[in-house]
Amino acid sequence: MSEHYSIKHLLTSGVAGTGVILRGWIRTNRSGKHVSFINLNDGSNLGGLQIVYSAEALENHEAVSRLLTGACIEVEGELVASQGQGQQVEVQAQRVTIIGTCDDSFPLQKKRHSFEYLRTMSHLRIRTNTFGAVFRVRHQLAYAIHRFFHERGFYWIHTPILTASDCEGAGEMFQVTTLDLKSLASETNDAFGQKRPLRKQQALHGPNDRGTVDYSKDFFGRPSFLTVSGQLNVETLCMGLGKVYTFGPTFRAENSNTTRHASEFWMVEPELAFCDLAGDADLAEDFLKFIIRDVLENCQEDMAFFDQWVSKGIVSRLEALVNSRFERMSYTEAVRLLEKSGHKFEYPVSWGAELQTEHERWITEKHLQAPVFVTDYPMEAKAFYMRQNDDGKTVAAMDLLVPGVGEIIGGSQREERLDLLLQRIRDLKLDEEAYWWYLDTRRFGTAPHAGFGLGFERAIMYITGMENIRDVIPFPRTPGNCDF
Ligand code: 4AD
Ligand code: MG
Repeated sequence: MSEHYSIKHLLTSGVAGTGVILRGWIRTNRSGKHVSFINLNDGSNLGGLQIVYSAEALENHEAVSRLLTGACIEVEGELVASQGQGQQVEVQAQRVTIIGTCDDSFPLQKKRHSFEYLRTMSHLRIRTNTFGAVFRVRHQLAYAIHRFFHERGFYWIHTPILTASDCEGAGEMFQVTTLDLKSLASETNDAFGQKRPLRKQQALHGPNDRGTVDYSKDFFGRPSFLTVSGQLNVETLCMGLGKVYTFGPTFRAENSNTTRHASEFWMVEPELAFCDLAGDADLAEDFLKFIIRDVLENCQEDMAFFDQWVSKGIVSRLEALVNSRFERMSYTEAVRLLEKSGHKFEYPVSWGAELQTEHERWITEKHLQAPVFVTDYPMEAKAFYMRQNDDGKTVAAMDLLVPGVGEIIGGSQREERLDLLLQRIRDLKLDEEAYWWYLDTRRFGTAPHAGFGLGFERAIMYITGMENIRDVIPFPRTPGNCDF
């Protein structure tokens, strides 16, 4: 009896002469006069494996007419040294059984489809070379992330997805409710007797004052949301476990339709006790280099594919990167550089304003052509939890900017001093009550600590050279798009 093998296994350790069973999907079927060739793909590698068969010699030759692109088949045959070029081994088939038929209405018949078209086929695009490669690399990266932290003594914490607090304070949260929106809408007429959609009402009342709705009747008895970041929760576990990280989905209802923003994306957020901003940047640099090295080592075939078809030279750029030292510059220096650049930016540069994408890209792509940590941003530009510097104007924040993607990591040393943190929450008019548990960590044995968040999809984009975030997550969610 032959045994079932993955194609990857056969290519790395198969022995010619072995009887094998393979299962997978037909990418192409080239029929010749005497012999025909199927390229079979089972997801375990990029290139699949060549199956050679002669229609008459097949035990079940009635199946031959249904061996069409997209069909799922089982092949039984012998692994043999390949006659042709381009592969070491192939399978000489004795039996080919159809597991799942597929006809010519299968939408992915062509050899190349545009990424735009494939986005309308999120459920099928995994049958293409590009998406197979993207999701194998995505897996390898996730595995490398866990390995990096595990080997350094960090504990993986599963922070909640449902939350009551807005970590980033930007009011970009999806609200979660079991209230009947239809009957609410009819109850919530404004002073002029006009109905306003709930969203407008919320905008009027701000993120922390959700209007006149009676939340005691809502599922949690209070407004609740999908989390924008696991940081606040993971910080509390850090104050007891010392080194922790959270890695999971996060949600942002920001209405930015760019190639780098998704409404649902994954974030990796380590948190480290007794660590300052410089230590945080060192950890981020080691971390990014580690996961890149891991992918270069373990996804060679897929990376060669990206190098050839998606982003020329990406492998050598990544190799150079893991052997370089990331630059570091303060926000103040960055602003000075931008002002002196002579470059015409759409948004003017001035100390105190947020750096725009065009500014970030100029620094990392044009000026340095290397990754750079920009540190010590103006307090007003950053979230409430960041530690105030002695100058009274800036906070111990860092953004890691990389060529091609821009901001890939955002992090900071956290404000561990209760009085300063409280002051900040009050100045920003955040709901102090909602943060009572977070503030407790500063009341009971507070300690300096720091952490960062890596946008997982942005990391995948950076490493594969894929240019749109919609093409590195299986089912992208963006404004107006929640299909599938
Ligand atoms: O800079 P951000 O907002 O930082 C935080 O959320 C902190 N709580 C992290 C921490 O210190 N623990 O987000 C972190 C990263 C960004 O640098 C970016 O890579 C990614 O998350 N990111 C997004 N990725 C895809 N789509 C979006 N809409 C994103 N918003 C942020
Ligand atoms: Mg950020």
